[in-house]
Amino acid sequence: MTALPAERPARVRPVRIRPVRASNVLVGVDPVACRPAADPAARAEHHRIRHAVFVGEQGVFDGSDIDAHDARDDVVHVLATHCGRPAGTVRLYPTGVPGEWLGDRLAVLPEFRTAGIGGPLVRFAVETAGARDGIRMLAHVQLPNERFFHRLGWRTAGPVETYVGHPHVPMVTGLTSPVTPWLAGARRAG
Ligand SMILES: CC(C)(COP(=O)(O)OP(=O)(O)OC[C@H]1O[C@@H](n2cnc3c(N)ncnc32)[C@H](O)[C@@H]1OP(=O)(O)O)[C@@H](O)C(=O)NCCC(=O)NCCS
Repeated sequence: MTALPAERPARVRPVRIRPVRASNVLVGVDPVACRPAADPAARAEHHRIRHAVFVGEQGVFDGSDIDAHDARDDVVHVLATHCGRPAGTVRLYPTGVPGEWLGDRLAVLPEFRTAGIGGPLVRFAVETAGARDGIRMLAHVQLPNERFFHRLGWRTAGPVETYVGHPHVPMVTGLTSPVTPWLAGARRAG
C-alpha cells in the first residue's frame, strides 16, 4: 500500500477589502439626523429656523418666538439636519407635573418639508423625554397638523383651544422607557 501524500495545509487567502468609491459611501445612510443643539452654532441655527417659520412664515409670533422656556436649564433644543444642512427644530421641557413633558416649536423649513424630517423630530423629542424619566408628553398642535400627530401615535386630548393667540388642539402621547441612554444628557450620564 502506498502512503498517501501528506495533506497540504489549506491556504488561507487574505480577505481583500475593496475600496469603496466616494460616490457610494452614503448609499443606505439616513440623510436626516436629529441632535440636541448643544453648541452655540447649532443653537443659532435652531433659533434661525424657528424664527423663519413661526415669525416670518406663519406670523404666529410678532418679532421673536423666544420665551422664558428657552433659558431654562432643563430645556432641550433639538436641531435636525438633512445631509448636514440645518432643516428643522423641536423644543421640549418638563411642565412641572411629575413625569409630564411638553414639546413645542416643531418646525421644518419649507424647502425640506415632506422629506421625512418632521416625523423623526417628533420621535426624537418623545425618545428624549422618555430617557429623562418622562411618562407622557403634551403638545398644543395647530389644527392642520392634528392628523400628522395621529399618524405618529399621538391622541387628541381635548377640544380646540386658543394657544399663543391661535386655535390649537391639545394632544398627548405616552413615553416609553429609553432605548438610547445618551439622550438622558449629562445629568444622568455615567
Ligand atoms: C408639520 C411639519 C413639522 C411636518 O414636517 P415634515 O418634515 O413635512 O413631515 P414629514 O415629511 O416627516 O411627514 C411625515 C408624514 O406625514 C405627512 N404629513 C406632513 N404634514 C402633514 C399634515 N399637516 N397633515 C397630515 N399629514 C402630514 C407627510 O406627507 C408624510 O407622509 P408619508 O409618511 O406618507 O410620506 C412641517 O410641515 C412644518 O414645519 N410646518 C410649519 C410649522 C408647523 O406647522 N409646525 C407645527 C406646529 S404644531
